Amino acid sequence: MAVPKKTSAIKSTSQHLLGIQNLSIIESKKILEEAKAFISLNRSASKKLDILRGKTQINLFFEPSTRTQSSFDLAGKRLGADVMTMNVSNSALKKGETLMDTAMTLNAMHPDIIVIRHQDSGAPNLLSQKVNCAVINAGDGQREHPTQALLDALTIINRKGKIEGLKIAICGDILHSRVARSNIYLMNMLGAEVNVIGPKTLMPSSVERLGVKSFTDMKKGLDKCDIVMMLRLQNERMQGTFLPSKREYYEFFGLTPEKLRFASKDALIMHPGPMNRGVEIDTKLADDINVSLVKEQVELGVAVRMACLKIYCK
Ligand code: NCD
Repeated sequence: MAVPKKTSAIKSTSQHLLGIQNLSIIESKKILEEAKAFISLNRSASKKLDILRGKTQINLFFEPSTRTQSSFDLAGKRLGADVMTMNVSNSALKKGETLMDTAMTLNAMHPDIIVIRHQDSGAPNLLSQKVNCAVINAGDGQREHPTQALLDALTIINRKGKIEGLKIAICGDILHSRVARSNIYLMNMLGAEVNVIGPKTLMPSSVERLGVKSFTDMKKGLDKCDIVMMLRLQNERMQGTFLPSKREYYEFFGLTPEKLRFASKDALIMHPGPMNRGVEIDTKLADDINVSLVKEQVELGVAVRMACLKIYCK
């Protein structure tokens, strides 16, 4: 399998990957193209390259993560970088050190790239102004999660051959979801039509300004959709009560085989994980290999993160 060497031609015009909002269509397509080459490498017996040999990658996760953290970890290692994942719960942050002091400490160790997930929207942007290396946003508050949207786009392209002209529904807690925001920007940019569906209390005001149609009824919102993206209720970002009960939420917004019938005949289901089975999605549907792309999303997530590290790590 031929994986292109690191060349200046594939470098991004921007130094950091902070959000899809800051990304041009050319940059997004470049990342997706690069990632395609890594899909088969990751399925082969020998997965190790030396593109990032001699480079140091630091993963800084302030919020829990399974998929994103482990795939950035694997991605860096497969490209030959030295990868250090900071255990934030054991770090000096627990002793009152600020994010910026931690950033300056890590910066003094000359990393080439820092991958950060943080509960505060904008933390990666702030970090990028304080360090000398590239910064990749692995999810900040409810703002953006660019690599999740890119891996979702790659998964759709891998299955449907394109994004342009598709109708995509994003369902659930739109208000608190960085995955929703990044996907709205990216899918719109790549030429899809996007519907967002959820209860009024979990819908940002003036969401239509983002270029989507908004629905509170699954039947109307799913009509003729090719892709149905389900979201987890972001309970950790909710202050106060947004919903009467989880049972009622499932009744109206949980994806079941019956509700999936409102979508296109060959519609496929996605979920960024972690899934709350029986809350936003029926458990059998989530595992149904004929319609669910959940495992493929995880697999292609590694390829997308390899592409991002290759492009942004200077
Ligand atoms: C998402 C996140 O962290 O925003 N998870 C992920 O990265 N796979 C979605 C979520 O936590 O619900």
